[in-house]
Formats: sequence, C-alpha cells, structure tokens
Amino acid sequence: MHTPILTGTGLWTPEHIITNQELVDSFNAYASQHEGMALSSVEFVEKASGIQRRYVVDKQGVLDPQRMKPRILERPDEEWSIQCEISCAAARQALETAHCPPEDIDGVILGCSNLQRAYPAVAVEVQKALGCGGWGFDMNVACSSATFAVANAVQAVRTGFARRVLVINPEITSAHLNFRDRDSHFIFGDACTAMVIEAEDAARGPHQWQILGCKLATQFSNNIRNNFGFLNHCHEEKAHEADKLFRQNGRAVFKEVVPLVARHLQAQLSELGLAVTDIKRFWLHQANRHMNDFIAKMVLGREATLEESPVILNEFANTSSAGSVIAFHRYHQDLSKGDQGVLCSFGAGYSVGSVVVKRTN
Ligand SMILES: CC(C)(COP(=O)(O)OP(=O)(O)OC[C@H]1O[C@@H](n2cnc3c(N)ncnc32)[C@H](O)[C@@H]1OP(=O)(O)O)[C@@H](O)C(=O)NCCC(=O)NCCS
Repeated sequence: MHTPILTGTGLWTPEHIITNQELVDSFNAYASQHEGMALSSVEFVEKASGIQRRYVVDKQGVLDPQRMKPRILERPDEEWSIQCEISCAAARQALETAHCPPEDIDGVILGCSNLQRAYPAVAVEVQKALGCGGWGFDMNVACSSATFAVANAVQAVRTGFARRVLVINPEITSAHLNFRDRDSHFIFGDACTAMVIEAEDAARGPHQWQILGCKLATQFSNNIRNNFGFLNHCHEEKAHEADKLFRQNGRAVFKEVVPLVARHLQAQLSELGLAVTDIKRFWLHQANRHMNDFIAKMVLGREATLEESPVILNEFANTSSAGSVIAFHRYHQDLSKGDQGVLCSFGAGYSVGSVVVKRTN
C-alpha cells in the first residue's frame, strides 16, 4: 500500500464580482414588477448567511432584471468547453505547486454539482487539453463532489492503481441558481479548484500533506434538489419549470445537516485515534457562516476562532464543492510540519465528506 500525499492546490476565480447590493437591487427591480412579491434585503442576506459578494462568469446577464441568468454562449465542439477551460486554469496552478508535469498524471477525476453535458466526460477533455496520461471520469455528489473525488483519488493511489491523480471541481453555480427566488438568490458563486494527490514516493513538490483518512456518508433527502436532467425534454411542458434549478428548504437543511456533520467529524477523528485538540484547522464547506460556527462549536465544545475555522464565503458565497478546497488553498501556508487539519464538505444528498491531512513537508 502507498501513502497518499496532497502536493498542490489551484484556484480559478472569475473576473466579475457581484456585491449583495447589486444583486438585491436587481432582484427588487424584478420583484417590483410582479404583484405580491416580497423584496430582498442586503441586511437579511448578510445576517442570515455571512455572504457579502460572489464571483460570477457573467455579471450582466445575472443583474439584468429582464433576464436574471448568466449569458454563457455555446461553443463549437472543436473549442475547449468552458468547464474544461476553467479546470485547466486551476489544474495548471496545482500541478505547478506540486512540481508535477501534466504528462505524469495517471488519472483525472472531475467532480462538481453541475456538468455541462452528458458526454464525453469533461474530465477526458481536460486530460486531452492538459496532456495528461491515463484515464479521466466525471462524478457528481453535489457540494461533496470534491471530498468524494479526493476519496476516489486516495483509493487509487493507496492501491497502486494510479501514482498521481488530479482532482478538479469546476463550479459554475450561477447557471443553476434561480435568481428570481428570494429565499436563495444570494447563495451561490462561481469558482474552480484543483488538487494533486500522489503516492509518497512519487511526490516532488515542496508542500506535502499526508492524507490520513477520508470518511464519506450519504443519507437521502429532498431538502436540496434540482430536477434538471436528460429526461426533461421528454416532458416538454415542464422542461423549464423552477424545479429544474437549485431549490432548498434552507431551514430544514440547517437543522438536519449541522448535527450530521458534527457527529461525522467526531466519528472520523475517533476512528483515526485523534483527539479534537490534535486538529489545528477545520476547512469547512462554505454555505452559511452560522452553520460552520455551530458545527465547529459542537465538535470543539466551544466557539472556534477564525484561525481554526477560516471563512471564505463572505468573498465567494457558496461555491458548492469548491468551498472547502478554497478555504484550504487560502489558509494552509501558516501551519507547521506535523500540524493536522480536516477538510469537510456537506450538501445535497444529503452528503458529507471529510479528509484528514497532516503537514509532512
Ligand atoms: C438560506 C438561509 C440563509 C435562509 O436563512 P434563514 O434564517 O433560515 O431564513 P428563513 O428562510 O427561515 O427566513 C426568515 C425570514 O426572512 C425572510 N427572507 C427570506 N429571504 C429573504 C430575503 N432574501 N430578503 C429578506 N428577507 C428574506 C423570510 O420571508 C422569513 O420571514 P418571516 O420570518 O417574516 O417569515 C439558511 O436557511 C441557510 O443557509 N440554510 C442552509 C443552506 C445550505 O447550507 N444549503 C446547502 C446548499 S449546498
């Protein structure tokens, strides 16, 4: 068996930023044209979620009250797709940090909440665009797609099935968000993350984090759901209804997922023989600031500091599976050799995934 090491991360961020004020102004312009629609407010958004702004692929289309969705043009089959393009941007950073040329990669696992087509797999396109070897496949476990993809990569490396795996999470969440839904119009933002996971004896980069363990769990719930899929065109009267976009029962999600995640983390630490005091940092999924505060408090038995549980959702909003990876990407350099931390995602399914890491270089 081989020891899996995380050797590099990368982050692609779109150039457009939408502030809460801009988003609320656009929503309220739309709502004032529709009788009986309640207005949104910046105060509510910031207080309820902690989100202050988000990055998006297209700002103009989202903010136009006549449109309220990004305008992302289809590309000819001969061009790299947008998910491939942003994946390559994040992946190149991760590969550079890992000192790993793309041709040394044996497998590409691309996990995200929304794939832009049925096939061929975007991962296979990325494999070609970067010049990676081996194989590639796409997978979707919603907001937990990154941690579940890491678990797959870790299994592949541990067993010798692959020596080096690239994990990528291209999240264009602005295209699945219903910007006309007051309850959720502020929730998401776009980003793409990438990670390189290698066998210890294959790792060459200066930053090395041993992956001590991955723990995954799922439990069926309809509280976060999106009915978009290939059968939609077989029932054309319903093909463009609001259930073909993200929708949630946010309050129920909050109540049910917080204890699920806290118990999951406690169980994983105990299975690894670790005490909570052995964990220096929690890179949690970034959906709601209060959710993270509650989870950290249940696990630690006290309030977490920002250093222990860093926040990026104020700047990025919920970037689905990319959130915990962005938190890691931004906040790991200050930790020392021997320090341990945990990346943890949670979301639709329900799904919970956690990855415990230890700095070894
Ligand atoms: C979505 C979320 C921020 C909403 O916060 P909340 O505190 O649960 O808010 P509620 O939906 O209970 O609404 C509270 C009040 O605010 C109002 N409200 C809702 N949206 C509003 C908006 N955009 N602007 C102003 N007021 C709003 C509601 O009408 C309600 O008013 P009432 O008390 O008069 O009935 C929160 O539930 C959440 O983040 N949940 C978890 C979501 C999550 O993690 N999902 C995972 C996705 S991957």
